[in-house]
Amino acid sequence: MSQLKIRPLKNIPAEIIVPGDKSISHRSVMFAALCEGQTLIENFLSSEDCLCSLEAMKALGAECEVLKTDSRGKPVTLLMTGHGMKLREPLAVIDCGNSGTTMRLLSGILAAQNFKATMTGDESLQKRPMKRVAEPLEMMGAKLKGQGVKVTAPLTVKGGELRAITYPLPVASAQVKSAVLLAGWNTFGKTTVIEPEKTRDHTERLLAHFGVKVVREGNAISIYGGQKPEPKNLYVPGDISSAAFWMVAAAASPDSMLVLKNVGLNPTRTGVINVLVRMGAHITDAVTVGEGEPRGNVVVRGGETLRGTVIGGAEIPNVIDELPILAVAAALAQGKTIIKDAAELRVKETDRIAAVAKNLRLMGVPVEEFEDGMEITGGQPLIGAELECWHDHRIAMAFAIAGLFAEGTTTINGTECIATSYPGFEQHLEQCMTEPLNPEVVTKVVDHVPFRKSDSKAPSGTADSSS
Ligand code: S3P
Repeated sequence: MSQLKIRPLKNIPAEIIVPGDKSISHRSVMFAALCEGQTLIENFLSSEDCLCSLEAMKALGAECEVLKTDSRGKPVTLLMTGHGMKLREPLAVIDCGNSGTTMRLLSGILAAQNFKATMTGDESLQKRPMKRVAEPLEMMGAKLKGQGVKVTAPLTVKGGELRAITYPLPVASAQVKSAVLLAGWNTFGKTTVIEPEKTRDHTERLLAHFGVKVVREGNAISIYGGQKPEPKNLYVPGDISSAAFWMVAAAASPDSMLVLKNVGLNPTRTGVINVLVRMGAHITDAVTVGEGEPRGNVVVRGGETLRGTVIGGAEIPNVIDELPILAVAAALAQGKTIIKDAAELRVKETDRIAAVAKNLRLMGVPVEEFEDGMEITGGQPLIGAELECWHDHRIAMAFAIAGLFAEGTTTINGTECIATSYPGFEQHLEQCMTEPLNPEVVTKVVDHVPFRKSDSKAPSGTADSSS
């Protein structure tokens, strides 16, 4: 078991480049594998989760030539060769590792194939509910067999001829939306998914990139089956969910000035910036490449004391992966923060409400836990502690950041799970725990950056938004 020992913050680097976006990397190899021909994918996230998707698509008949690797020898530039929408029956069980995205999106793809395939995953993935994809895919005519009432992995999908459906999502989930749209893509007629709240739209954008038309009308997203994708090279922007850890670290450090380069700025993912700005952080994000998946630099200037806020309602799907680090921001802020309408956190890689509450309390932060969120009272000094992360990469990284602001040393056990989404996190963290080589160069506060105006209002869709 790996362990991280966190020493108090010494330095916020001037610049951090986070690796490629996880959600887009998964989809890039899946959709490229369904094209006939070659797609060059640059800045692929070579984390364990995305490598599972890559291996799965290879097992289903696609080929991949690695053109460039990172410092660990893992692929970052790939040339994928697909053979069209008809995949090959896999010879063995597909291992999805820790990745819910791999298992749920692949379920949608497999539902329309003329064979039976089984997927499994690690201990954490084997506990996660697959019923949410099994239900709509069975309505379309596929057969899915998992374990118990939650239909957990190992999950067998027997695909075939499907029928188009209109499906109102019972939970706001981009993974379920994607599974239904991907099944509908290979089905005669119009398949529609209606989302209760807007969720990340990477599937829609990436399908459009490959020439497949997806139509949004309000909360309804539709796809006509039978559209042939055309291979087209793509570049994966940096992951805003990974950048979020450093946004919080910089926002909470007086005199810091951090540029996060080349970050994905898809509006269905930038909620974390909105929340931090509402908490009083100085942040600016400028889209420099607007086509397909927008991206650009994010600049954070520390100094202002953060203040508590309410996070809930329609903005929850937009910040769902950032709630653990936003909870840490809340602990560093003055006053109370309420996170609500976020029951989905209970079925992530671990129960993230219980995990965050437990670790914050161990660090001396008062937390009240609710079924769908928590109330955090910030502003007290954090105390270094020995923490678990329950195989959850985002819990490990969120509390590594908390450790930077704690008195004494914080130990986090089981940090090998960080490789799930952020290879290189430990190196960036080490920079923060090391005295800067040349402190003068670090005095870099720039005033002319047009930081976003703080909007003190709570988000629409929360009870406080009318006040
Ligand atoms: C993801 C969607 C979200 C998110 C996950 C990645 C995706 O899950 O939490 O990390 O790539 O579609 P849900 O769809 O379960 O909300």
